Amino acid sequence: MLPPRFVTLNNDIKMPILGLGAWDMYGQEAEQAVVDALDVGYRLIDTAAMYDNEQDVGRALQRSGVLRSEVFVTTKLNNNAHGYDEALKAFDESLGKLGLEQVDLYLIHWPIREGRKASWRALEQIYAEGRARAIGVANYDRILLEELFDTAGIVPAVNQIECSPWLFQPELMEYCRANHIQMQSYCPITRGIKFNDPRLHPICERYGKTPAQVVLNWHVCHGISTIPKSVRRERLQENLGALSFSLSEYDMNEMDSWDEGFRICEPPSDFY
Ligand SMILES: NC(=O)c1ccc[n+]([C@@H]2O[C@H](COP(=O)([O-])OP(=O)(O)OC[C@H]3O[C@@H](n4cnc5c(N)ncnc54)[C@H](OP(=O)(O)O)[C@@H]3O)[C@@H](O)[C@H]2O)c1
Repeated sequence: MLPPRFVTLNNDIKMPILGLGAWDMYGQEAEQAVVDALDVGYRLIDTAAMYDNEQDVGRALQRSGVLRSEVFVTTKLNNNAHGYDEALKAFDESLGKLGLEQVDLYLIHWPIREGRKASWRALEQIYAEGRARAIGVANYDRILLEELFDTAGIVPAVNQIECSPWLFQPELMEYCRANHIQMQSYCPITRGIKFNDPRLHPICERYGKTPAQVVLNWHVCHGISTIPKSVRRERLQENLGALSFSLSEYDMNEMDSWDEGFRICEPPSDFY
């Protein structure tokens, strides 16, 4: 059976399981990457105020010719814009740069201690006004989610966290699942750093797939939405090819066992 192409969020809206992460691309390069991604079949674009390319993503959405209703657009609250009023203002600025009246998903990018609770109230307000079709968080572990639940009126639809076979967090995955929060992985292919893991190569050979395809398939076979980044059209296509097969239970179990706590970004515990 092939992996699903969409996941259903806790408010019943559908989100593509695999999308384009737009970190570290700027200007014309970012615009072209998003146009190419939409052209080869991507329907989820993940940007952020912090990435300084919302305007480029917005131009690409205009240029692509793909109907707005067919593209799932995520953006995120910047770390310097926490607090109720600040977050509302930052959201307006993001919408302006994207040239949109509504985003599909608005996330708290990092759980900045001062302000994160008030920011969540602002996201709930934005959701109530229908200006984001879903709201969520990023970089929240169980402790931070439990803190959010103390005051939140709305359960986040998504928790975007760093995750890969080398940073498998089954307890957090189960906790999110039990609380109807969709997990989404960033740095899903470890920026290529782990592609030389010798255990990966026999699996690639068995399926006739590339390291990126095998690793991304591991995510989607776990039901984890994922957002690999590339500015190269051939890699965009390659990464989307992760949806064209399914790893066996044996290989999934094998890759689950590679967890070594390998991280590229800061852990959520830095924000306690
Ligand atoms: N919420 C957060 O705090 C947070 C933090 C980090 C990232 N993110 C999001 O997650 C997205 C993905 O994470 P990431 O960009 O850090 O890392 P990633 O997707 O794991 O890796 C991207 C890197 O791998 C290369 N690459 C892409 N496809 C490849 C392939 N098939 N073969 C070999 N190399 C390949 C890319 O280079 P080329 O572009 O040259 O192809 C790029 O250097 C980001 O873009 C961003 O949207 C969120």
